[in-house]
Amino acid sequence: MRIGILTGGGDCPGLNGVIRGVVTKGIKDYGYEFVGFRDGWKGPLEALTMPLDLATVKPILAKGGTILGSSRTNPFKIDNGVERIKQNLADQGIDVLIAIGGEDTLGVATKLDALGVKVIGVPKTIDNDLNNTDFTFGFDTSVNIAMEAIDRLHTTAESHHRPLIVEVMGRHAGWIALHSGIAGDAACILIPEVKFSVEKVCDYVKSRFETGTAPIIVIAEGAIPQDGDMIVKDQPLDAFGHVQLSGIGDWLAAEIETRTGYQTRCTVLGHIQRGGTPSAFDRVLSSRFGLEAITAVHDGDFGKMMALHGTKIARVPLASATDVLKTVPIERYEEITSFFG
Ligand code: F6P
Repeated sequence: MRIGILTGGGDCPGLNGVIRGVVTKGIKDYGYEFVGFRDGWKGPLEALTMPLDLATVKPILAKGGTILGSSRTNPFKIDNGVERIKQNLADQGIDVLIAIGGEDTLGVATKLDALGVKVIGVPKTIDNDLNNTDFTFGFDTSVNIAMEAIDRLHTTAESHHRPLIVEVMGRHAGWIALHSGIAGDAACILIPEVKFSVEKVCDYVKSRFETGTAPIIVIAEGAIPQDGDMIVKDQPLDAFGHVQLSGIGDWLAAEIETRTGYQTRCTVLGHIQRGGTPSAFDRVLSSRFGLEAITAVHDGDFGKMMALHGTKIARVPLASATDVLKTVPIERYEEITSFFG
């Protein structure tokens, strides 16, 4: 069999671990051939390919990003996009396509599955917002990057007796903020799922200073103030209709400075959270996802996404992973509020 692989959407550490797992087992155990499609769905759409063999994938486990490249191309927004993909897959002799991506990339895979294309999905995103899997790879690395930044910001906040805001990614889910805020001993954590009171944040700032330490506030880029709106960049929507988030951290810093008199600064971590080598957890999880994905191909179990359920790698219907976003349940947020202030 000839198997196609693509990586779509925001890149993250671990993508190469999946590619390596799929290709290594596929060649060594099943004798399959592999074709890498470049730059997400643009690859199958425009027949952009690269060879994938054991020599190519051997050295890539610790390499961040994706050797295939990525994009946010949406074939359903392009004239004859689906027909062009089907034709290119046929021309390349591709029997099955393995799509590695988040809600958008796997949303396309779900639709193509319904249109008769043999696809397998692997969940990727630093946001950890894909449903029906406990974790996606990329998330653990981004949380560690954010935590290390927060640890560093504690020392400068202490030195200058300043509140420091750390704005993290996560789009419309607060998982990165929640985990990195807990790990980094934040004075409060603000997530999109729970609108926040600026007044209450200022109270946490004051009470943290009263304990003799300077407050670090971790805010998700999609967080929303009770008496305000999400803050977005004045940029065009992407091909999947997403706004570009960022700015809420600076807005909150100005509010805190005005209301408390403390000189307040904001650090926006941005794409640093997606860069560099994967954590050990993400290297292991991505490898396991890759091994199971090619096993699912061998079993003829198409239309499925690999998922982490506890410590087991499961196969779930693609539609069950992309129908709703996995956001932070209120009880997970309320659980940690004792640490605030
Ligand atoms: O989905 C991953 C993510 O990093 C989000 O957390 C963030 O909002 C978005 O991608 C940024 O998109 P781009 O890389 O296209 O700017």
